Amino acid sequence: MAAMALSISTVGVVGLGAMGSGIAQLALEAGFDTVGHEVDLARAEAARDRIAHFLTRKVEKGQLDQAVRDDAVGRLRLTTDLADLAGCEVVIEAAFEDLAVKHQLFRELEATVGAEAILATNTSALSVTEIASVLERPERAVGMHFFNPAPLMPLVEIVRAERTAEDVFEAAFELGGRLGKTPIRCTDTPGFVVNRVLIPLLNDCVRILDETGVTPADLDAGMQHGAGWPMGPCALLDLVGADVHVHASEALYEKLREPRMAPPPRLVRMLQAGKLGRKTGEGFYTYT
Ligand code: 3HC
Repeated sequence: MAAMALSISTVGVVGLGAMGSGIAQLALEAGFDTVGHEVDLARAEAARDRIAHFLTRKVEKGQLDQAVRDDAVGRLRLTTDLADLAGCEVVIEAAFEDLAVKHQLFRELEATVGAEAILATNTSALSVTEIASVLERPERAVGMHFFNPAPLMPLVEIVRAERTAEDVFEAAFELGGRLGKTPIRCTDTPGFVVNRVLIPLLNDCVRILDETGVTPADLDAGMQHGAGWPMGPCALLDLVGADVHVHASEALYEKLREPRMAPPPRLVRMLQAGKLGRKTGEGFYTYT
């Protein structure tokens, strides 16, 4: 499969939420024909609007030519039918973080794409090996874990599952570079590298709010100005979303059984109250 690494021209992205639409934007900016799949057309079109908006902002700021922007947006094909991903050499799955959902998608994708196509997952806390276990050829599966917001965060973790073929892994690593990212090589351990560090750290931050009585704004200012974080932990949790963070936290806790991995009760209460952060307009902060 190694030669194919150089011949990727069409990238599929399954799931066009915050992460998937960001990944699709990267693929378009890198010059790939891109097929974006969503469960309904309204969500798919909302993703295209987001991508078009961010690329327009780049034009307005002199970072991108109008013609390049128009060409990029024009290369995005939207679909609600997985069969339309048949021509993709690589499909990056960025669907809901649920093993059953991903198993179903991987089964259907394998039946759709060509024999040599790579199936990548953007999972942040599930096992890539477990996701790939339903494939007839699990060696074609690899993790490509992007960070939120995908167009802005430079890292992509390339995750080698138990049965990932070497040439598939190297092709994914190279693709990460072509998407403008700094790829790092990871193994399929819980949370890979960054979330293994970041999730318990953010959990600590939330527990510290309750232990110390400090306000989210003061904690954020503390970590920004005292530790050089680009944004404070509460603002970051609002960006990631309490739903995504609690889910990832639970998945890591289930596997590692370290108390720091367990989601803090305050975040669980926020989740139950629908205070997910930016996406619902309220989290630690309110958003208009
Ligand atoms: N998609 C695409 N483009 C975006 C965007 C998005 N979601 N958000 C912003 N942009 C564009 C905008 O056009 C914006 O310009 P505009 O405001 O003039 O229109 C431009 O990017 C710059 O945006 P900002 O001014 O907000 O950029 P900053 O310089 O303030 O940096 C940041 C923002 C990169 C988010 C920075 O604050 C940062 O690095 N924060 C830390 C984020 C982080 O740690 N992420 C990891 C989360 S953990 C994770 O993802 C793991 C997962 O498994 C859950």
